[in-house]
Amino acid sequence: MPNNKNKDVLIIGSGGAGLSLALKLAEQNIAVAVLSKFALTSSSTYYAQGGISAVFDADDSIESHIEDTLDAGAGLCKPEIVRLTVSQGKSSIKWLRAQGVKFTEEETASGQTQLHLNREGGHSHRRVVHSDDATGKAVSLSLIERAQQHPNIELLEHHNVVELITTPKEGATNKRIIGAYVLDSQENKVKTIAAKIVVLATGGANMAYVYSTNPHSSTGDGIALAWRAGCRISNMEFMQFHPTCLYHPEARSFLISEALRGEGGKLVLKDGRTFMEKFDSRGELAPRDIVARAIDHEMKKRGIDCVYLDISHKPADFIREHFPTIYQQCLEYGIDITKQPIPVVPAAHYTCGGVITDDHARTDISNLYAVGEVACTGLHGANRMASNSLLECLVFADRACADILERLPTVSSLPSIPEWDESKVIDSDEEVVVAHNWNELRHFMWDYVGIVRTDKRLSRALSRVKLLKKEITEYYSHFRVTSDLLELRNLVIVAELIIRCAQQRKESRGLHYTLDYPETDQSTAPKDTILIPDR
Ligand code: FAD
Ligand code: SIN
Repeated sequence: MPNNKNKDVLIIGSGGAGLSLALKLAEQNIAVAVLSKFALTSSSTYYAQGGISAVFDADDSIESHIEDTLDAGAGLCKPEIVRLTVSQGKSSIKWLRAQGVKFTEEETASGQTQLHLNREGGHSHRRVVHSDDATGKAVSLSLIERAQQHPNIELLEHHNVVELITTPKEGATNKRIIGAYVLDSQENKVKTIAAKIVVLATGGANMAYVYSTNPHSSTGDGIALAWRAGCRISNMEFMQFHPTCLYHPEARSFLISEALRGEGGKLVLKDGRTFMEKFDSRGELAPRDIVARAIDHEMKKRGIDCVYLDISHKPADFIREHFPTIYQQCLEYGIDITKQPIPVVPAAHYTCGGVITDDHARTDISNLYAVGEVACTGLHGANRMASNSLLECLVFADRACADILERLPTVSSLPSIPEWDESKVIDSDEEVVVAHNWNELRHFMWDYVGIVRTDKRLSRALSRVKLLKKEITEYYSHFRVTSDLLELRNLVIVAELIIRCAQQRKESRGLHYTLDYPETDQSTAPKDTILIPDR
């Protein structure tokens, strides 16, 4: 690739959000470039298991899906965004099928085929469309294949965005995005990509924690890039911990889908006793914040390393047919889930907060959009309901596409952009500093800013994050950038945003639980936590 490029639309991220938007724009004859930090499949989308929520069951309704989403979101969902998203469930699935995604079907009593629907926590009906237990892989591979074949799409793997480029704010005129500096990690060179429209589709920030269900790519880059460029960030205290990540020394990030509990899987202690009934009348199918907190409580109270998820009471054929990936993966670690319970622990899974966007995925900076997990649209509120995330990616890709099509013809030509200046930096001779700081950050975030928080723990975490930030900023200004350094620089900013949001919320709500304010504040209307950068 030549050193510099000029694009109409630059999409940063090759997950469900980025690729859906690329395909939708490409179909309208817009040329787009899609960047991926690593391989195209290195995204949370690829690893999604349970599925995509959409109302198909005859007994279900849009109203019921809305109600469940609002209930899980603990008072902070934006009802108009929930309605807008949920009502696009069927059309989103239809679009994915048209891209070649094969969903699991079943035969009805009258011999017709229909989509098989999973049940997951917080949902009062079966409404999760899926491809066995590897929905994300099916979605990701189909979208990648389509994108690879499309003449209007250029896919650039191993391209890591270093910084967004904006025009300065002039009086009442907003800053405007004009491109990005991008590290081509294979050529080891920072390139300039000028673009009229830039879309952040970079996923979540769950690698801020030492135990996470996410792939390595989820380092919150889009949130940090947007923050440095001048966008407001919201609700970062609502980091979601999935209750059931496999507990095994060689398998730190393998998820055991909530769909297993949807089919009757029980959470038990080592001696087989259940405990969820003590915490919520919905038991194993309560929303995630409740289940993760219950497990954390049992582990801390009893001083145990894990709890167990047991589905072995179901017929072995049923388990193998419904959960082929989980069955196989666990077997490789010596656990036969048809015969024995699975050791599980909670792990950081989803970032409910993010870059503030409106109902067309527009951010605070002109021509900069954010779609997918990087964004805070108002759909999830204080706790995302299972399988609503892939749906959000698809719906907001559609909303952004419509807006970009209108906006693009009005964008004036781009000013010239200076090239990345490396004249004052040298190669690092101490990369161990980066590795060490990565570990330190992720450990103290787990210990002090995890499932249960206190004022004291948060202020301890903030002092540490400030020290690390200073050290990393110094390192960044002296040494040539590497992918690891860029991620660490972003992760430390995101960690600070999580802590600052958590410190501002003087109550427990949804995923944010603090021993200092254990109750939800009922005295005023629920409020988002909004952080405003220096502009
Ligand atoms: P991602 O899919 O994470 O994609 C982000 C992309 O951005 C990647 O290509 C990455 O390389 C790229 N990127 C990041 N930073 C940079 C940078 N600096 N430069 C260039 N590129 C960059 N949700 C559901 O709705 N249903 C489920 O069943 C489900 N199961 C899940 C199971 C697991 C194990 C996990 C981890 C998540 C699951 N989720 C599920 C959540 C859901 O998968 C994600 O929220 C969703 O896929 C996010 O999509 P995205 O496109 O926003 O981000
Ligand atoms: C799961 O399959 O349990 C994950 C679903 C989700 O995160 O939405």
